[in-house]
Amino acid sequence: MSRSGRPFLQIPGPTLVPERIVRAMSESIIDHRGPRFAALVRECLDGLKGVFQTERGHIVLYPGSGTGAWEAALVNTLSPGDRVLACVNGHFSTGFARVAQAYGIEVDRVEVPYGAGIPAAEVEARLRADGGHQIRALLAVHNETSTGVTSDIRAVHRAMDAARHPALLLVDTVSSLASIDFRMDEWGVDVTLTGPQKGLMLPPGMAILAVSDKALAASEKATCPRSYWDWAPILERNRRGEFPYTPATPLLFGLREALLMLNEEGLANVFQRHARLAEACRRAVRGMGLEILCRDPAEYSSTLTAVVMPAGSDSDAYIAHANTTLGMSLGVGLGEAKGKVFRIGHLGSLNELELLGGLAGVEMTLRSFGVAVPLGAGLAAAEAYLLQTG
Ligand SMILES: Cc1ncc(COP(=O)(O)O)c(C=O)c1O
Repeated sequence: MSRSGRPFLQIPGPTLVPERIVRAMSESIIDHRGPRFAALVRECLDGLKGVFQTERGHIVLYPGSGTGAWEAALVNTLSPGDRVLACVNGHFSTGFARVAQAYGIEVDRVEVPYGAGIPAAEVEARLRADGGHQIRALLAVHNETSTGVTSDIRAVHRAMDAARHPALLLVDTVSSLASIDFRMDEWGVDVTLTGPQKGLMLPPGMAILAVSDKALAASEKATCPRSYWDWAPILERNRRGEFPYTPATPLLFGLREALLMLNEEGLANVFQRHARLAEACRRAVRGMGLEILCRDPAEYSSTLTAVVMPAGSDSDAYIAHANTTLGMSLGVGLGEAKGKVFRIGHLGSLNELELLGGLAGVEMTLRSFGVAVPLGAGLAAAEAYLLQTG
């Protein structure tokens, strides 16, 4: 059934694409070996550096997805038989480690339960125990999208420094970049990887990396098989404003517009907007009498809230119900959280009224699903907070 009005895609990405970006993407395709394209590539690469908060990093773009970006980060920096330490605290950090394993990389794990962030002290202890520096890289997910937990990457880097360990730091920022403060240079990150479909407000379809000089040097010795994901030919051709294959030109048109929009708002304001809407969402969830999966308030995610489904109710069934009754899409529980949580996305191009609409939808559909939420209590809590902080 088609519904009138704005779709309520309340999942933690892909997000709705703002009109400005849709219009920018509808521009006619241009010659990808011509001067207009070269200028477009330059603007995108320069603009992305600002979003990654890197001056020294090199940007690499592929048509692909976040999963491809994992693979690109790993195959360019590591060799089969290398050892890595993977911080695993949810479905996506598990996936990152799995890709490494598929390439014959030995994966040690720092494992914590769903709902917790990366324990920097344990990272430090594990690296100190590796006196022979066998561990070549540390894998971390900045914002674990399956649980709504943001880990402290600055603390992880400090732990590596404290252990005087030379491992590379590879960080997934798929659901944090351009929404939650992330400082590649300051935090000593060697490869930052992301996708376009969350904070960057674009449709899915790209894998985006920022790469340090240390990671570039590692790539010269890395022997994982690679062809499509080899970043060397891309870096080389990008210098001339080209790609080694036919690029996803409409996404680049959209990316240029997205970067303009982020600059107009100011990155600090973008982070602040996300933090404020996230807090309003959490207050609403508590107002409904429900629990948030993330345990430590210092690790609350600004881009999504994972809500624990009341005992006896299945979150998959509830999400299907919300979809059929109000046409609202909520994120499902992933991995160990399957059937146990639903996730409310509050990222990308989002404002107060849109958030409140989504929260009203959650209250109404929980109630019609049979969960005894007091109608209006969550909304009132969110509204009060937004009024106080407006
Ligand atoms: C943190 C994180 N990493 C990786 C991915 C995988 O990205 P993609 O689905 O674009 O392949 C996702 C997807 O949501 C994610 O949230």
